[in-house]
Amino acid sequence: MGKVTVKLPGRSYPVLVGRGALVELPQLVRGLGAPAAAVITDETVARLWGPDVLAGLSGAGVRTEMLAVEPGERSKTLQALERTLGFLEEVGLDRSGVVLALGGGVVGDLAGFAAAIWLRGVRCVQVPTTLLAMVDSSVGGKTGIDSPRTKNAIGSITQPVAVVADLATLESLPEAEFRSAFGEVVKYAVAMDRDLAGELEEGHRELLERGTERLEPVVTRCVELKAKVVAADELDRGPRAILNYGHTLGHALESASGYGALHGRAVAFGMRGAARIAERLQVCGPELVGAQDRLLEAFGLPGELPAVRAEDLLAALPRDKKSSGGRVRWVLPRELGSAQVGLAVPDEVVAEVVRCLLP
Ligand code: NAD
Ligand code: GLY
Repeated sequence: MGKVTVKLPGRSYPVLVGRGALVELPQLVRGLGAPAAAVITDETVARLWGPDVLAGLSGAGVRTEMLAVEPGERSKTLQALERTLGFLEEVGLDRSGVVLALGGGVVGDLAGFAAAIWLRGVRCVQVPTTLLAMVDSSVGGKTGIDSPRTKNAIGSITQPVAVVADLATLESLPEAEFRSAFGEVVKYAVAMDRDLAGELEEGHRELLERGTERLEPVVTRCVELKAKVVAADELDRGPRAILNYGHTLGHALESASGYGALHGRAVAFGMRGAARIAERLQVCGPELVGAQDRLLEAFGLPGELPAVRAEDLLAALPRDKKSSGGRVRWVLPRELGSAQVGLAVPDEVVAEVVRCLLP
């Protein structure tokens, strides 16, 4: 079992990564001195993994209640947040208890945000059950919901007290969800870690077969990379923006399609766009564009995307919350394993690339 520590002054926390890590959860919650846990999950994960989690916690003497929301992005809404807060009130979760976010990035974002604002903040343990949540969303404290027009518009940066990523939970994850998450994994490789890119290229077949031997070091590496960035810039004032590589166009695609794209696929699309923009601006050379395309293709990415018109995607760009003073700050790759943050890109270059990528 791997353990990564996210180091923050007075708020460091462990991220456990490994097959069978869920076994550690009851003792971890007991160790936090929490007499009660409110498990927030979605209906699919509740059915698959809820019974094990509830039995483990109850067996350790933790009073446990569970709320299962509708699966998918539709649960990152004010209505779902209201329902979650209502549940915490109904079960009487006080500040000695913990919220346990059991599920993918949607549940992690919703439950994490509910925990951040309930009673002005109760502790949250993230228990990611998708690859995307394990490598990205469960770590780093970004929580929140979407507004009707803008993804992740309402939220906070509030760190969890622990993250428990059990690779066994990935066995039940649908193939498309599993593959799509490699969009985020490739993001780390291209923007931050050339060696990881090599490992992905060499091991992509075994990784797609979900073998723990290949998967555990890759998930752990992604968590290490994210932990380092978060420790350097928790509040996302500067260098943390590197984690948004591929997300500017990716979020615009998600928004323009009414959140109809799988997040990792949208990020893969965004990385293809960002690399082509970088090439046009001579921030990177054509070999980077080719190497990234091949890496993404090895994982079947970007794969099927919703039909979105170039004009609609371009119109969605200024609403991206990473924009500052109406100008989007881009993250562009320089070479494999390195990217530059905070770059301005002329609108016509963005439009040209988007029109090339969208049929
Ligand atoms: P998700 O949470 O919607 O999960 C995808 C689907 O898989 C859902 O239908 C869910 O029910 C199902 N599922 C989850 N675990 C399963 C399992 N073990 N077995 C079977 N089915 C399972 O999607 P996601 O891709 O995990 O997360 C996407 C969300 O994460 C987006 O809202 C995105 O904005 C957010 N995100 C947040 C951050 C952050 O830093 N907070 C980072 C990246 C992405
Ligand atoms: N997923 C981007 C971040 O955590 O900053």
